[in-house]
Amino acid sequence: MDMKLWPTCHNGNDNVIMKPLNDNLGGNGKLKLSGNLIPRGTRRTGIGSLAVREGQGFRRCFEGSPRGTRELAGKSLAVRERPGFRACVWDSLAVREGGGQNASRPRVYGPTSPYLTDQENGRKEKQMDKKERAKERREKRRQEISLIRSIPYSDHQRWWSAETIAVVTGANRGIGFQIAHQLGLHGLTVVLTSRETAVGEESAKVLQEGGLKVVFHQLDVTDQESIDTFCSWIKENYGGIDILINNAGFNHNIGSENSVEFAEKVIAINYTGAKNMIKATIPLMKPNTAGARIVTVSSRLGRLNGRKNRISDDALRQQLEDADALSEELIDGTVNKFLEQVKDGSWTTGGWPQNNTDYSLSKLAVNAYTRLVARELAGRPEGEKIYVNCYCPGWVKTAMTGWAGQVTPEEGADTAIWLSLLPDMRISGKFFAERREIHF
Ligand SMILES: NC(=O)c1ccc[n+]([C@@H]2O[C@H](COP(=O)([O-])OP(=O)(O)OC[C@H]3O[C@@H](n4cnc5c(N)ncnc54)[C@H](OP(=O)(O)O)[C@@H]3O)[C@@H](O)[C@H]2O)c1
Repeated sequence: MDMKLWPTCHNGNDNVIMKPLNDNLGGNGKLKLSGNLIPRGTRRTGIGSLAVREGQGFRRCFEGSPRGTRELAGKSLAVRERPGFRACVWDSLAVREGGGQNASRPRVYGPTSPYLTDQENGRKEKQMDKKERAKERREKRRQEISLIRSIPYSDHQRWWSAETIAVVTGANRGIGFQIAHQLGLHGLTVVLTSRETAVGEESAKVLQEGGLKVVFHQLDVTDQESIDTFCSWIKENYGGIDILINNAGFNHNIGSENSVEFAEKVIAINYTGAKNMIKATIPLMKPNTAGARIVTVSSRLGRLNGRKNRISDDALRQQLEDADALSEELIDGTVNKFLEQVKDGSWTTGGWPQNNTDYSLSKLAVNAYTRLVARELAGRPEGEKIYVNCYCPGWVKTAMTGWAGQVTPEEGADTAIWLSLLPDMRISGKFFAERREIHF
């Protein structure tokens, strides 16, 4: 590769001033310095591109772009991290991602590049427009919700009191902890549960010290004995439950990884655990004119008709979509078939969701179960209603995502709180995100 080494350039303040790529290269191919601020370092340039390297190891060249070597690859700036390769965005540069310099087509961001064909530029602009529009929509919705959240519930809307019992599973950390926190702030009695007693007690203590009515009890949703012990304790001490938040969850994969090594555990926690909690707590749901509520923290990854991630068997999708025909046997049969294929190694050609396969399927199953239970409970008389819904919290910065994500756990908890407290609740068997109904 043709690489020319440019001298280290800095302005004495540890920073180099330079313009976006298109302006950086003069007619003679030399670097022109002016414009945007980027960290100091040596600049290498070659076939119409630029890489930034620092003397003492490697430093980030763009906000959000972590340390790493920046290397040149054709028209693109390849950004290499140790270990592995990571994405980076830098002005108008195309950035390669993946397992090596030649691993994938460049991802292109920023203004039109003279180094791409018109067609490529057109595609890039469209892609950018779509991303930008989606980002804008997300941001607008976040702002709307944060505004709505700042408006307190009026007295006539508050159907709950300090005697209202809300149980949250997997609440020692992440979204579950935030759900417990926010329900506590609304004045309910929160039963914060966790499979590990010591960590759960610690988490509950944090909320108790903030003056909230929070109690702890051990609960492992994959252990029927633990569920039964918990239910007996609730019955004895509180007489029942008003709200159940099925939050406990597990995903072994982060990002685009797709190992099914822990598929059984994923299904056992996310689907079977949530299902068993629903079954065990329905008899405990207290009569209430506002209706008892069950909210399951699910994921858009489990959508039946996701554009990029879905079961490829149309007939099976249709069966799972038909709320009137749904049965526990069908849902269990679907996840069991997947688990059998995991065991015999044939799952890769089984037509399962392609992205986070085991996790996506576990959430698809719990979504389907939500609709099934909602149908089964629909006939309960007024005063004994139980509303059952699920929601996607978005991509949340928690341990599960390696603290990547677009929203905070507090924001991720919001739709659960909204569904739990909604006055005049009449909705059941639905899927939500950002306080809006979405398709299963
Ligand atoms: N983060 C996201 O972007 C995202 C997106 C969509 C949906 N969700 C869903 O949101 C929920 C919460 O996830 P999170 O992001 O807050 O992840 P997290 O920080 O990893 O929290 C998961 C929680 O579930 C608990 N848990 C795991 N297995 C359990 C079991 N057998 N019994 C009881 N509790 C158990 C964990 O307890 P330990 O601490 O003992 O492990 C932990 O408290 C999950 O259902 C997840 O699938 C998350």
